Amino acid sequence: MKIHLREVDRHNPNEVDLIVGRCMETILEMVPEFNNDPMLAREVIEDFTFNQMKERIMGATHDPHHKIVVASDLDGEMLGHSIFSIKKDADNFTYGSFFTRYIAPEHRRMGLASRMLQEAEEWMKQMGAQYFLAQTHVKNYKLQNLFRKHGYRVTGPKMARWPYYELRKDI
Ligand SMILES: CC(C)(COP(=O)(O)OP(=O)(O)OC[C@H]1O[C@@H](n2cnc3c(N)ncnc32)[C@H](O)[C@@H]1OP(=O)(O)O)[C@@H](O)C(=O)NCCC(=O)NCCS
Repeated sequence: MKIHLREVDRHNPNEVDLIVGRCMETILEMVPEFNNDPMLAREVIEDFTFNQMKERIMGATHDPHHKIVVASDLDGEMLGHSIFSIKKDADNFTYGSFFTRYIAPEHRRMGLASRMLQEAEEWMKQMGAQYFLAQTHVKNYKLQNLFRKHGYRVTGPKMARWPYYELRKDI
């Protein structure tokens, strides 16, 4: 099946809503402490409602430092997404920051997340990134494996809203 990567169509409400829903699903799946309960998530993430998450994600589509890339098939069906940004650290170094990604279950383990990761790295490099950074819950071994496979160093665990590892690759 031919799958292509493109930027999100922010004028397509179905596409945006699907991304928001999948982002929320990912958070619930990724943080075992939430026990798959949106109310528990809301106690920790104040804006964990559909409309607030949508506002946050839509805001990103207007900012050139953020990018939302989707994977779609020839019929336009959205099979996954990846959201990432370009930021400055405390020492004023520019770095690429991975926020979230999701691949539909029936399309997993076919290299799609890897393709999206590599495309994100290319864009971050063009934007001047000196390193790439992601964070993940200590129990999200799938994501740790994904980033390890692409040469990222795993450090931690650290503690914030939940225990997490930092995944970093220097260019
Ligand atoms: C994590 C996720 C994005 C991976 O997407 P994917 O397209 O299946 O990943 P790829 O096919 O590119 O896999 C690349 C590597 O990641 C690792 N990986 C992916 N899925 C894995 C799994 N189920 N178990 C262990 N390692 C896994 C492997 O190292 C894999 O390489 P390999 O296939 O050669 O072993 C996908 O499973 C997903 O969307 N999960 C739900 C949402 C989520 O957890 N998002 C991350 C938090 S933001």
